[in-house]
Amino acid sequence: MPDQDVVDLLTAQHEEITSLFAQLRAGHEAKQDVFTDLVRLLVVHESAEEEVVHPVAGRARFGADDEVVKPRLAEENEAKRTLSELYDLGVDHPDFDAKLAAFADAVAEHAAHEEAEEFTLLRAQYSSTQLRRMAGSVRAAEAVAPTRPHPHAGESAVANLLAGPPLALFDRARDAVRDWRSKQDL
Ligand SMILES: [Fe+2]
Ligand SMILES: [Fe+2]
Repeated sequence: MPDQDVVDLLTAQHEEITSLFAQLRAGHEAKQDVFTDLVRLLVVHESAEEEVVHPVAGRARFGADDEVVKPRLAEENEAKRTLSELYDLGVDHPDFDAKLAAFADAVAEHAAHEEAEEFTLLRAQYSSTQLRRMAGSVRAAEAVAPTRPHPHAGESAVANLLAGPPLALFDRARDAVRDWRSKQDL
């Protein structure tokens, strides 16, 4: 939805992330595809949060960002590492499911903190116009790591972008969001 504000958009993505984890834990038959969707969605989501949402929220607290923003950034760095390890293991590895389950719990806790503390703060401190504008950060990340690829998009450049390991996707999404942000007045 083009008019969705950043808080609604990120909250909806939290639900989508939860649903993808649940599908993987329930033994979805297309496990690899679901995991690929999860990687892509986490890349888009966490890159926008890392580059725009956390800095903006930190600033709204007049620099007193220790307990609201810093732990979230640390968790996101940890999540990147774990996601890479899961990717390297592969969905059929015997250790994958246990590692994924622990990761799902960590991500759920991370998201609950964001919603309770940071998103509330953003709503209180920024206008609806500003919050809608910030949603552009998520779209900028999505442009390089689409969350809804077409299964037969082999002909497009998009397919190549999706093939990379998680850390390469994170780097690409971060650059895209930074580039977007450099053109904004946020
Ligand atoms: Fe996050
Ligand atoms: Fe989040």
